[in-house]
Amino acid sequence: MKIGILGSGLMGGTLGTIWAMAGHEVTFSYARTPGKLDRLARGAGARTGTPAEAVQTADAVLLAVHWSRVEDVVSRAGDMDNTIVLNCCVPLDRQNRDLVVGTTTSGAEELARLRPDVRFVSTFNTSPSEALFNVFSARDESPRPHLLYYGDDADAKAVAGRLIADVGYEPLDAGPLRTARFVEPFAMVTAELAYAQPGGPELVYRFDRIHRHSE
Ligand SMILES: NC(=O)c1ccc[n+]([C@@H]2O[C@H](COP(=O)([O-])OP(=O)(O)OC[C@H]3O[C@@H](n4cnc5c(N)ncnc54)[C@H](OP(=O)(O)O)[C@@H]3O)[C@@H](O)[C@H]2O)c1
Repeated sequence: MKIGILGSGLMGGTLGTIWAMAGHEVTFSYARTPGKLDRLARGAGARTGTPAEAVQTADAVLLAVHWSRVEDVVSRAGDMDNTIVLNCCVPLDRQNRDLVVGTTTSGAEELARLRPDVRFVSTFNTSPSEALFNVFSARDESPRPHLLYYGDDADAKAVAGRLIADVGYEPLDAGPLRTARFVEPFAMVTAELAYAQPGGPELVYRFDRIHRHSE
């Protein structure tokens, strides 16, 4: 797949590198220093470009910028009509402390309202960047950790499912885009566990069901 990365920081840089290692054609874009994009691309065997170039021929795009930069990067991305966009952004304030939208809407829904031409699917927002390489290294082990994904576009969800699996997770379908109202606060739980509680940031999770033992 051709994958465009909008925002090549902790999430975009790591996921783009993993997808390149998994055999995809990755284009990194949107960092403050072009040298950073070049280093990432050289390390991953990938390309660099402007946001518009990253989007132009992409089968899928990862949106991975701070919430305050979303409108800027999307406005630089040019024609995104029908583009499949995996959105990992959590709608945080500048201090990364509080959600700036929630309960009756969500970052994901606001983004979809802003760009109805784009086929959004939300995922990777509940995974600390520090876990991603470890998940990729352990991709042949079972069971795999889960990763939630949700959205209203079936094709976008199918593409996201494949890219999630390529990183080494088992994709867990959490329903429509509206689920974002509940998952974005849950992303703050994963951040609390990763960064404030003991154990380190390489956090993964797995949902399970327990069935009653027959007597
Ligand atoms: N980090 C995590 O573990 C994690 C987990 C789940 C969800 N998320 C969400 O994922 C999104 C991305 O997070 P992140 O941690 O990857 O952020 P990040 O490391 O700060 O990366 C953001 C990227 O945007 C670029 N950027 C910022 N301002 C810019 C500007 N004015 N012009 C051009 N480029 C600019 C940064 O450039 P530079 O590289 O030059 O700084 C960087 O490449 C956020 O919405 C966050 O809430 C993050």
